[in-house]
Amino acid sequence: MEDHGMIRMCWLLEVEILAWRLLMISQLGDSTLNVDEIYVADYLVVATRENCDAYIPMINGLENFEGEYLHCSKYLNGRSWYDKNVLVVGSGNSGMEIAYDLSTWGANTSIVIRSPVHYFTKEMVYVGMSMLKYISIDKVDKLMLTMSKLKYGDMSKYGLVRPKEGPFALKLSGGHTPTTDVGCIKKIKKGKVKVYPAIANIKKGKIIEFEDGKSGEFDVIVFATGYKTNVQKWFKDYKELFNENEMPKTCYPNHWKGRNGIYCAGFAKNGLMGIASDAQKIANDICSFAINARKLSLAA
Ligand SMILES: *[C@@H]1O[C@H](CO)[C@@H](O)[C@H](O)[C@H]1NC(C)=O
Repeated sequence: MEDHGMIRMCWLLEVEILAWRLLMISQLGDSTLNVDEIYVADYLVVATRENCDAYIPMINGLENFEGEYLHCSKYLNGRSWYDKNVLVVGSGNSGMEIAYDLSTWGANTSIVIRSPVHYFTKEMVYVGMSMLKYISIDKVDKLMLTMSKLKYGDMSKYGLVRPKEGPFALKLSGGHTPTTDVGCIKKIKKGKVKVYPAIANIKKGKIIEFEDGKSGEFDVIVFATGYKTNVQKWFKDYKELFNENEMPKTCYPNHWKGRNGIYCAGFAKNGLMGIASDAQKIANDICSFAINARKLSLAA
């Protein structure tokens, strides 16, 4: 739905026929004029997980930070931060890409890497994904690790530790997605990008203390800490499918369907494969209703 603007409200209409209603705000062309649009549908598939609200974690003292801080969704490039001390928080694709970019623009760049992470080149990821069709995850994971170790070696002395579980197994079980390296690892090796563990707190001014006891002074923090779902904001009086954490109430593998024609895709934390499997189940389910409806009308 993102191409059509922002969802403002959504509710289940129960008079006469059961139907979902969505109130959208859209922009007309490139003008600033907002228009309201209402969509009515028999089925509603919630697939908004990824493009939701920017998430910045609660950090002790952030409200008193005298530098600048922003979420990575607002990041354009490092042009304005030449020679500044910049801290990137997060070791996913966005975090590593931004750290690389900042360093290339001449910012004195550091990155917070809190937990173990897998890292590969784009080519390795491509090879792995292609082989998953033919070989077991276990074997592909072993091969991925071998490739990564050959290319990058052991990076633990720079603060980069690999998880115990293999990259695809980890992704499938809902853990971190492996990071595709665009050149940040080389910069870390060369000392151009410094690695820190989690932030402990922010002291007065621009001093940031880390969990290993070290601290540094930073002008800018870029949070590459992901997104949060926002379904509760626009679902009106509907509490069935999602819990207060905005995730499906019913556990995997029955998470994708609620009553009255509502579905959700991509909420099971198991990556692209999970989204694909949700989408197929949902399509089949809706299709079976449609076929039954036609049978009924033929019989009548
Ligand atoms: C670069 O940033 C680090 C903090 O990670 C700091 O210790 C160091 O002094 C900075 N270098 C310069 C030249 O400002």
